Amino acid sequence: MEDLTFRCIRCEREYPLGTREWRCRCGGLFELAGPASRFSKDEIIEERSIWRYRAALRLPEGVPQITLGEGWTPLVDEAIYGLPVRFKLEFLMPTGSFKDRGAAVLVSFLKHLGVKEVVEDSSGNAAASLAAYCARAGIRARIFVPSYASLGKLKQIQAYGAELVPVPGSRAEAARAAEEAAEARSYYASHYWNPFVLEGLKTLAYELAEQLSWRAPDNLIFPSGQGTFLLGTYHGFCELLEAGLVEKLPRLFAVQAEACAPIAIAFQQGLEEPAEIEPRETVAEGVRIAKPIHGAQVLTATRKNTWIEKDFTVNKDDKVNVKVLPSCK
Ligand SMILES: Cc1ncc(COP(=O)(O)O)c(C=O)c1O
Ligand SMILES: [Zn+2]
Repeated sequence: MEDLTFRCIRCEREYPLGTREWRCRCGGLFELAGPASRFSKDEIIEERSIWRYRAALRLPEGVPQITLGEGWTPLVDEAIYGLPVRFKLEFLMPTGSFKDRGAAVLVSFLKHLGVKEVVEDSSGNAAASLAAYCARAGIRARIFVPSYASLGKLKQIQAYGAELVPVPGSRAEAARAAEEAAEARSYYASHYWNPFVLEGLKTLAYELAEQLSWRAPDNLIFPSGQGTFLLGTYHGFCELLEAGLVEKLPRLFAVQAEACAPIAIAFQQGLEEPAEIEPRETVAEGVRIAKPIHGAQVLTATRKNTWIEKDFTVNKDDKVNVKVLPSCK
């Protein structure tokens, strides 16, 4: 995997993996370019974590495994309105969310690069996860948070030993502060810009397929903000399909809060880019992202091999508005 590079999805310019640039000079998003992942079931390592699929992870040779035992979360049977549903209990991850899949792989890569200090912007689970994995790896973490961030999350981030830098104003202003700090001296370990995060998130697909005896689920529903979890999982299922380990792609659903639904609105209106919206308040803080960086890719992924009902959003009273879709009956 030594010929891996970062490649701009807009202008296709390539950068070495050791670059400190976190996006292309044209403003485009990086993706990983180079040899595709090749995986067979024989390569599964008998470990109850994401690292059982290490052979599927596109990482340079010699990357250490920075782990807190993330992954292999339970898949629990339930029924909603009499329809069988399974819940993947990602809250049982070491820091309490799926973000650990991405942070474990990103921080392992950063340790390999010899990075000593990172910056990140987030008010919630992504920052807590990055802080924990950096502590595990002995990397210093500075997290830029909007000053409205919830106290519980801030305490969690601090408990892992990260330095918190409150930024007055919006989430976007916290992101700008992190970008500036990265330009000055630090590595910007962004949970939505860095391609190794998606690489870690794709382990959800491998795990689900194995837990379902090498089948893809019919439908997969994600609460979506930036859309990275949906997209990483989609990449994983594409690889599994290519390798002949599953027979189809699951239909993907991005669920957003009505108060902030740029992807859902774009989907309904047939747009290729996220809709321009003015975000309102919602208890669904983690998915309140007005300008999702991966929005266009999420729209492509959800449109592929899928159909969707009009308004699959969470309503303004923040009661989950689960619709029973006709084709599920
Ligand atoms: C619990 C939880 N669910 C969903 C999301 C949204 O994930 P994504 O931004 O990858 O769409 C987040 C993001 O912070 C989260 O913390
Ligand atoms: Zn570019």
